[in-house]
Amino acid sequence: MSRLIFVLNGPNLNLLGKRQPHIYGRDTLADVEAQCRSEAGGLGIDIRFHQSNREYEIIDWIHEARETASGIIINPAAFSHTSVAILDALNAFDQPVIEVHISNIHKREAFRHHSYVSTRADGVIAGFGTQGYTLALRRLARLLDAAT
Ligand code: DQA
Repeated sequence: MSRLIFVLNGPNLNLLGKRQPHIYGRDTLADVEAQCRSEAGGLGIDIRFHQSNREYEIIDWIHEARETASGIIINPAAFSHTSVAILDALNAFDQPVIEVHISNIHKREAFRHHSYVSTRADGVIAGFGTQGYTLALRRLARLLDAAT
């Protein structure tokens, strides 16, 4: 089994660090990628790290992950609450999926309390700030180790 994990980020996360820092903090997405690469190195995992504001690009990366990856970490951002298409793509992916939200979506507006992706995710991390990504990587490494 490959030790390749896709880390996918949805709309507006390119603005991380500048956008609503009282909610999402001051780390940029480049900081998050560096944290993930450092953690993944220690766990013996390769990562592909992507962000897009376009739903179809996220779907295409999930399709690519079907062929190559042993897990997906996804922060679908606002698409969590709207996208049946991303849910369908994840339902066609047979390996573990961890959903990450930087903020605690359950503490926020009611429209953020439902996530289509959560109906597929094997685990959900919300409200741990950007640390949620490295926690998700550790969980996937544990699952990979258990499967080999
Ligand atoms: C988010 C929470 C979503 O509700 C929001 O639309 C985002 C970011 C988070 O990481 O906390 O863009 O996914």
